[in-house]
Amino acid sequence: MTQGTKSRIDIKNVSKIYKTGSGTVEAVKNFTESVKDGEFVCVVGASGCGKTTLLWCLSGLHPSTLGTVEIDGEILNAPMPGKIGMVFQDSNLLPWRTLMENIELPFQIKKKPINHELVEELLEVAGLKGFENSYPGELSGGMKQRGSIVRALAQDPEVLLMDEPFGALDAFTREEMNLFLLKVWAKTKKTIVFVTHSISEAIFLGDRIWVMSPRPGRLARVVDVDFARPRHIDLQFEPDFISILKEIRTEVEGSKAGKGN
Ligand SMILES: Nc1ncnc2c1ncn2[C@@H]1O[C@H](COP(=O)(O)OP(=O)(O)OP(=O)(O)O)[C@@H](O)[C@H]1O
Ligand SMILES: [Mg+2]
Repeated sequence: MTQGTKSRIDIKNVSKIYKTGSGTVEAVKNFTESVKDGEFVCVVGASGCGKTTLLWCLSGLHPSTLGTVEIDGEILNAPMPGKIGMVFQDSNLLPWRTLMENIELPFQIKKKPINHELVEELLEVAGLKGFENSYPGELSGGMKQRGSIVRALAQDPEVLLMDEPFGALDAFTREEMNLFLLKVWAKTKKTIVFVTHSISEAIFLGDRIWVMSPRPGRLARVVDVDFARPRHIDLQFEPDFISILKEIRTEVEGSKAGKGN
């Protein structure tokens, strides 16, 4: 599997203000943090605290109102499709194209030759070999989501931005997907920023967790997760895991009630 080059992200005083009919919303305020090369950062926080907004600022698709985002020292002011990949809650596979045709689409759009070797390797790891000619409607939710991750990784991006990619899946499929993602990440060492509602998912996956508080969306806390890798799914039952979970939960609950603002 490709090793790809990794990328560092520096977020400097980023604020995002939306203008609405009824006024303005400070969705993200004065956010300053960095993601190291090959690091796996998870972002958690109450609904509406600005997680998705922050991710879009990192994508270059919806720029921040104030502040800058730098990818390897280069200021981000437009999307970098070869460098930054995105995966959303919905797999976004086109239903009228087969899985393989969906994976090939970004190559066709970019008029770039398909990296068959990498695609084959990713399909293998994703357990999707034999389903290349299936249509999305013939795949399970987990398979579709793995397909969309394969589609993003086939572009060999340096940074992978993920917004609740497993949010719609049942608990068991979600655990499988977590293990799949860690397996892929261990091989590729991409720089990942992963947004999730699930604090336990964040602790299981991440090297570090950014806890955000709402109104305005701010970075409330950074938690280092030092559990050894590879991580076993039973880690979530360990006392140390549960104590971090409780700590972050208290922080998120407190910020929801307005105590953190
Ligand atoms: N396009 C927009 N126009 C105006 N306000 C917006 C827009 N997008 C988001 N907001 C507001 O910005 C704030 C942050 O929204 P955002 O979607 O980033 O939150 P989130 O943390 O991703 O929430 P969730 O966990 O529910 O996905 C919210 O108050 C939301 O109403
Ligand atoms: Mg969101």
